Formats: sequence, C-alpha cells, structure tokens
Amino acid sequence: MPWTTGQLKTAIENIIKDRLLIIASNREPYIHIYKEGKIEYIRPVGGAVTALDPVMKVCKGIWVAYGTGTADREVVDKSNEIKVPPENPKYTLRRIWLTKDEENGYYYGYSNKCIWPLFHMAYTRPVFNEVDWAYYKIVNQKFADTILEIVKKKEAFIWIQDYHLMLLSKLLKEKNKNLITAHFLHIPWPNPEAFRICPQKIEILEGLLANDLLGFHIRYHCGNFMETVRLELEARVDLEKTSVTYGGHETLIRAFPISVDYDQISKEAESEEVKTEMDRLRDEFSIDSKVFIMVGLDRIDYTKGIIEKIKAVDRFLEKFPEYKGKVIFIQKGGLSRIHIDKYKELNDRINSLVEEVNWKHSTEKWRPIVFVRKHMTRREIVGLYKIADACLVSPLHDGMNLVCKEFIAAKNDLNGVLILSQFTGAARELNDAIFVNPYDRESFALAIKEAIDLPRKEKERRMKNLRTVVNENNIYKWAGKFLEELKKI
Ligand code: F6P
Repeated sequence: MPWTTGQLKTAIENIIKDRLLIIASNREPYIHIYKEGKIEYIRPVGGAVTALDPVMKVCKGIWVAYGTGTADREVVDKSNEIKVPPENPKYTLRRIWLTKDEENGYYYGYSNKCIWPLFHMAYTRPVFNEVDWAYYKIVNQKFADTILEIVKKKEAFIWIQDYHLMLLSKLLKEKNKNLITAHFLHIPWPNPEAFRICPQKIEILEGLLANDLLGFHIRYHCGNFMETVRLELEARVDLEKTSVTYGGHETLIRAFPISVDYDQISKEAESEEVKTEMDRLRDEFSIDSKVFIMVGLDRIDYTKGIIEKIKAVDRFLEKFPEYKGKVIFIQKGGLSRIHIDKYKELNDRINSLVEEVNWKHSTEKWRPIVFVRKHMTRREIVGLYKIADACLVSPLHDGMNLVCKEFIAAKNDLNGVLILSQFTGAARELNDAIFVNPYDRESFALAIKEAIDLPRKEKERRMKNLRTVVNENNIYKWAGKFLEELKKI
C-alpha cells in the first residue's frame, strides 16, 4: 500500500517526538517577488523543493533557506520568518540573507562552478577557487548560527539538504553535541577517481561524516561515497552495516529514492481547471488533435541534455521526413544560474540550435520545436504533461530526476510514453520507460519513432506499471523511510 500523509504524520510523532524539526536547504520553497508593483510568490522548480514542500506540510517544522526573492524581506516578521504556503500556512520558512559576495562565492562559485560539475561528471570542468571556498565556509557558518539560535537548548533534529551545505552538520555538532543531524544529497556522488581532484575533499568528507545519517538517491552513490571514504580517510567502512565510523562517530549511509506527491498530482490532473488548461495550451501552440506532442521540462542546465534532445528531434525529422507537420516538441526551459558563463553559453547555444532546427524543417504552418521560457504555474505544468503523448527526459547525469515521476503521476488516462535517459537515478525504478543514451543521437531519434509507433495497449500497459511504481514509492514513503532510519541511531 502506498504511504499516506497520515502514516507519515504517525511516523513523525513516533520518531521525532517532541524534538524540533528543522530543514536546511539553500533554495527556499516559496520566493516572493514584485510583479507590476504587487507582491506575488513563485515556486522554484528544483527537485529538492518539489519533493520537500509536501513533506513539510505534514511535518510542521521550520525550513531554513536563503531568501532570494526581490520582495522576500518585505513579507517576513522580525525573526525573518513567514508561515507558508502563503494561502494556507502549514509550516514556517526562516529566511537567511546573503550579501552579493557571499552569493557569488558560495552559490555561483563553490556550489555551482565546482561541486555541481565535479559531482555530475558531465564533461564540464570544475573550477576550484580559494575565495569561493572561503565564502562556502562563511555561508555554511551563517546557516549554523541561525539554526543554533532557533534551537537554543531544545532537542532538535536537523535535516540538511543538498551540496550547498556539506559542512553544516560539523559546524552544528561542534556547538551542540545533542543535535541529531542527517543530510540528504540530491545530486550524485561521483566515483573516487573523480572526487579525488577536489582540493577541499577532506573538509567536505569530514563535514558530511559529522551526520548521524547520510542519504543518497541510489545504492550506487552510497557505494561511491563509501569507496571514497575508504581511499581518502582513516575511517572504518562497514559494508555489512553500510556505515562509516570516523573519529569515533558512526554515520549510517543509506539509499532513499526521492519521489513526488503522486496523489496530489494525480488528483490535480483530473480537475476541471487542468482540462481547461489543456485546451488553452493546445490553442496557444496551435496544435491539431492529430499531432504527436512531445514535451520536456528542465532548468536550463548542461547536465539536463537539452541540446541532445533538440538534436535527437532534428535527427528524427531527417530520418522520417513524413512526420513533418505531425509532431511537435514543446520544451519548457527555466533560466538558471545565469551569472555562470557555462550557463549563459548554454542558453545562447539552445537559442541558436532551436532556430537552426526550426529553419531546417519548418513548413508554412508548422515549426517542430517550441521553446517556452516563461514561468509556468503548477496548473500549466500539469496541463502540459496531460496533453503530451511523450515526455523526453534526457539528462547526461542526474541523481534522480523528478520530471519523469511528475509526468507519470499526471498521466491518469494512461496515454503517454516516457523516454528516459539511462543516466538518471529514476532509470533504476522506471523499467517501463523507453531508455535512451542521450549522447547517441541516432538511437535517441529511433526511440522517438518507437514511442510514436507503440500500440495503444502497450502504452497503457507500460504507463500502468510506471504509475504503480511511483504511487508505491511516493514522497511520503521517501520521508517516512528516511525518518524511520533515525530509530537506529
Ligand atoms: O534535484 C535537486 C536540485 O537539482 C538541487 O540539487 C538543486 O539545488 C536544485 O534542484 C535546483 O538548482 P538551483 O537551486 O540552483 O536553482
């Protein structure tokens, strides 16, 4: 039976008991911005916040994150806190403010010019820079100070998210040994060969090993981490228990494949509002009912394989020109980390490639690729999934990838095919997808043809199986299993 919010609530009551629950992440779940003189909020699209917001609604803890919105300071109280979701408050968001230099060094610099490419191994060279590292430490300390101030003498469980805060647990424990800390890494852990070039590797490993529990999406990343520790530190790595003991402290290493709120998305997909949205989207993109619609939704990031998707569509149309006018690929791409050159270059490259491919294949009334840049609401996104005949998810390397799971949750009519990169964590669970190697343009193009040709019955059979997997392993199970592990500590 799939985990429910009720079950998660009970698990929290039994495990967390009276302890304060604090989540710490770089990205905040709600961003307040000024739009045409008014304050509005938007929801960021990253996997970590997509997954954790439904969990926090049940857990009722405090979420500490960096406030990035233009109107973020306007809406918080004296303690920099605001209850969220804004229209139906369920938990507290505590915002941390960073200076421009801190944001540059810690977020754009160390986190995203060094750790992100290093851990994803997508052939983008990591940049190691002492100043960025200094800011990374400063900001981790800032998070630690805020959390210690919130906790005071209370008992607390601190649940740290992602690669921006890998020193946080150690900084917290140095000041308060009674805290229980756990860290979930939302990106892959690379093999030891790749990681060993990092000049700050020992401090990072020591920071992570201050946690009581350390989680990754898949066992392969746990294996990579333990092998890294074995090679880099004088630590006891227990493969039976999957734990590491370092400096007398034991850290459990576990895999927890993250997921989405299946029920919520599935319900939303059935709503009248989404049906209206589907008609609106068909109108907006002038799509005839006979056209085969492919969609993609990504942050504009070189790990996501967006260029590879466009090239595959191009190759598909070269190979099967009879499909001109009969297929469309709608790619939603949110701008991301735009102050980093590699991201700027990628954005420009995408613009020119879309232009090139559209120019090459378009007819008077039809263009094969529509690139959507504007922010889309949840309803629009679910509408997009619903009108899609296929979803193209093609990262070159991804810890998990939640777009594919959201697509599956939205497909309650079973009418859709998932084309999935074999280099995502999700590929280990979603066996009924059509798998692609995004680096291989030829077979990617053939996978598109396979998706189009799949008989309706086979499509439904596959989607049914995929939906069973995502329903069974929903976000509440992910959180519940993570918290249950704490009982062993
Ligand atoms: O899958 C989660 C994730 O990839 C994070 O690792 C990352 O922080 C986030 O989504 C999106 O990136 P950003 O926060 O830099 O916009």
